[in-house]
Amino acid sequence: MSQNTLIVSNWKMNFNFLQAQNLAEELNKINYDKKRIINVICPQFLLLPLLNNYLDKNNFVLGSQDFHHQLSGAYTGDTSINLIRDFNCKYSIIGHSERRKNHRETNDQIKKKLKLSFENSIKPILCVGESIDQRENGIYKEHIQKQLFECIGKQINNGLIVAYEPIWSIGTGLTPSTKDIIEITKLIYNFLKNEKIKDFKILYGGSVNSLNFKEIISLEKINGLLIGGASLKIDEMKKILSSC
Ligand code: PGA
Repeated sequence: MSQNTLIVSNWKMNFNFLQAQNLAEELNKINYDKKRIINVICPQFLLLPLLNNYLDKNNFVLGSQDFHHQLSGAYTGDTSINLIRDFNCKYSIIGHSERRKNHRETNDQIKKKLKLSFENSIKPILCVGESIDQRENGIYKEHIQKQLFECIGKQINNGLIVAYEPIWSIGTGLTPSTKDIIEITKLIYNFLKNEKIKDFKILYGGSVNSLNFKEIISLEKINGLLIGGASLKIDEMKKILSSC
């Protein structure tokens, strides 16, 4: 397991104010190795002020689930990177498959978001991953290479975090075999090395829970996890954070 393991909670569109507050307070009580583990919580935008005010900042750091690829302007319903930074977000998920699907986010927009994040000192967590059709048709590696190539480009990339999230694994309870995860993490690793990107990290996401996380996190090139469903449950997070 690597130094500075990143455990990223993606709360997605869950929790009201009170539920978020309760979970945040419980999370603050968990004992884990803070020298080694970075515990990142990515709530809905409207919960950021709450978490920013209520949390013991030593126990976790905040991240956002997205931000707009322009700094400001006529973009009704969107949120700017400046605002998420004002609420102490240090990380942001970028290009999650749910945003690519539901909001038709393109690799080009994701590339702009990556650039903005580097310029504004937000650590980007770029999500890549294949659909079930792409896996079954044997074109998953090409697809992920293309996502990496088109999203990353030649910009400031040191410190980039890439999360491998097979779409068919998200929220389904299915996870790829260890061999399949290793194949893709190697592909991502080699791509980032070839691009001469320094200090990068590779995460895995997709149906991670307290029963399967140990095997995944022990894989050589994996530096952390992106957790959806299980991150909403305090018992799951206790088990994961305290035995990571
Ligand atoms: P999941 O979600 O853990 O519920 O599969 C992961 C994600 O979408 O980031």
